[in-house]
Parts: sequence; C-alpha cells; structure tokens
Amino acid sequence: MRLKDCHNFGNFRALAKQRLPSPIFNYIDGAADDEVTYRRNTAAYESVDLVPSVLSDVSEIDMSVEVMGQKIDMPFYCAPTALQRLFHHEGERAVARAASKFGTMFGVSSLSTVTVEDIAELAPGPKMFQFYFHKDRGLNDALLERARAAQFNVMALTVDTITGGNRERDLRTGFTSPPRLTPSSLFSFAAHPSWAWNFLTKEKFDMPHLSGHVSQGTNIAVSVGDYFSTMLDQSMNWKDAEKLCAQWGGQFALKGIMSVEDARRAVDIGCTGIMVSNHGGRQLDGARAPFDQLAEICDAVDDQIDVICEGGVQRGTHVLKALSVGAKAVSGGRYYLYALAAAGQAGVEQALGNMQREIERDMKLMGVTQISQLNRKNLRWH
Ligand code: LAC
Repeated sequence: MRLKDCHNFGNFRALAKQRLPSPIFNYIDGAADDEVTYRRNTAAYESVDLVPSVLSDVSEIDMSVEVMGQKIDMPFYCAPTALQRLFHHEGERAVARAASKFGTMFGVSSLSTVTVEDIAELAPGPKMFQFYFHKDRGLNDALLERARAAQFNVMALTVDTITGGNRERDLRTGFTSPPRLTPSSLFSFAAHPSWAWNFLTKEKFDMPHLSGHVSQGTNIAVSVGDYFSTMLDQSMNWKDAEKLCAQWGGQFALKGIMSVEDARRAVDIGCTGIMVSNHGGRQLDGARAPFDQLAEICDAVDDQIDVICEGGVQRGTHVLKALSVGAKAVSGGRYYLYALAAAGQAGVEQALGNMQREIERDMKLMGVTQISQLNRKNLRWH
C-alpha cells in the first residue's frame, strides 16, 4: 500500500497499520470492550438511504457551512485528538496545516504534543481547543487562558471521559504514553524502523500543556485510561460546565452529548454547540451511535445551539446524511489520524481532498448546490 493508492478510509487504515508499531496502531484503531459501539458508529449510516433529485443545474457547488460562528469551506472538520506526535513526527502541525489548506476547522487537544501558541502561528483559520477538566484547578485555568491568548475560536469541554474506557487492545499491547519498551512491544518497534528512527531523532515527545503541572503522561509512561481515571475530576457537574462556559465567554461546546435531556441542558447553561459523540466508541461500549441519536437531539434543541455529529464518518455520503438530519457540520478523528500516520501532512491533505471531492460529487448526484438544501425529505429510513 502506498499513499497514491489511498482512495478511502480503509486504504489509509491499511497504510497506517503498515507504518506504525502495533501498540500505537491499536491505540488509534481500538475502542472499548467488544467495540460494538465503534462498529455501529459507521454502520448506523447504512440504516438510512439517500433519495436524490435530478435536473437541477449542479454546475456550481458551494459546500461551505457556518458552525459555531466559524465559516468553513467544507462541512467536515478534524476533531481534536490526543498525542499526534506518536503517530507521525509532524504531529499536530501536519493536521493544522492540512486543515488550513482546505479552509476547515481542526481541534487541538489538552493532550496535544505541540503548544497552542505554535499551532496558532501556523494556522490563522478557525481552531477549536479541547478541554479536559482536571482536578488541578490551576492547570484548568492555565489551559483556558493559553487557548484564549492564542486566539482559539471555539472551546470544547469533553464530558464523556469521566473515567477511563476499557480499551482491551491497549491492555494487551501495554500501550502507554510516552511509549514504554516492554519485551512484547520491543519487537514491534524494531520491526518499524522508520517510525522508530523518526520518533527517536526528531523533536522530543512532550505534552507541553501539562508539563509544569503534572508528571503523568508527560514523562512518566501511563495509559490513557489511567490518566482519565486519576487526573480528571470525577465530580465534574453542570455547575462546573456552566462556570467554564462563562469563564471562556465565547463559542463553547460540550463534546460527548448523547441524550436529549443533556442537549437541552447545554442550551440552558449557555453553550453555543454540542458534539453528539461517544468518543469514537472508546468509552462506553453499548452506547448508541451519534447518527442514530441525531434526529431527536436536533428536534429537541431546534436551532438554539449548533449540533455537530462526530464519529464513524468514512464517506462524503455519511456527511450528507448527517447534514440532512440537521447537523451543522460533521467531525472525525480516525478519518484523518490514519492518514497522518500514513504520510504526515501529505496524508492528511489527501484524506481531506478525498472527502472534499466525495462531498462535491455526492451533492451533484443528490441534485443540491448548497448544504442548506439538504433536509430529511431526501432521506428514507429502512
Ligand atoms: C482517547 C483520548 C485521549 O480517546 O481522547 O484516547
């Protein structure tokens, strides 16, 4: 498998698998328990069919949307994901540059390996900062203020990681961050010399937003599950979210909303957006898929807040289905992470290019020229 042969999600996944040591590939690729929810996140899109219209002059297409106050050139953006330096030595920089080239938004994680300041310098367009609510209030304030000073446009508080998900692939491979050499992982690292060379000789692995506050995950190898369970504040509640939203004072989303009641409460506490998401199936296995849950949530909030559908997206048609139901935009993690692992910035650009071309082609085949023309009339449920 080579980059030029990567036409779809599965191709990038195969190339990432080739390039990455197994503990790292399985960290991206894996999910919780039996991975039922992870599979359903994508399969859900197949329970609905598109009903196209024809003869409507589709020579000019505009796929831009406005979401959480950001005008973006395509309705798909890169969800915030952690630890990108582990997947490719260009890390978050590659994703920021590629997303900027396509005029779309990208998220930077609290657990990123490049600082918000460095990212802001190379990507002037719309940026989201993903916030983990730590027990350490000093760290929380520092994260918020750094993101503000770096002029991030959207703040997204993750609400579905109150404890670590049971990621059995990570237990099996012994995945930690930074990677620890164990007898079982050693072989896999040695078998991927170009990854190992780049990891060891390029910019040192670090989680700069945390250093100075915690040692966990920055220089002591811990699993992500342990990080969630020990560092994040399990007492986090609606009052805390409301306070953070007010403290930020700008575009603010809850990431990981799945119920109608919670969606309504997000409106009540002043949020401007929600990501309907189950964290890529990596937390609560057996949870419903975002696409399955989208219609009731969109109906409940009735345009008072922007709804983003996150997870399981592999195709332009998936994006069009979510937008037809009522999402303002769609975001994905693994979609671009496999591409990052496969080929750095060039890989992410190719993955976003594939998505852009698919959305354009699919809009033409659906007979629409603007995203606002999509609605539930062009869908049929089985
Ligand atoms: C994960 C976190 C870090 O799912 O978002 O691994």
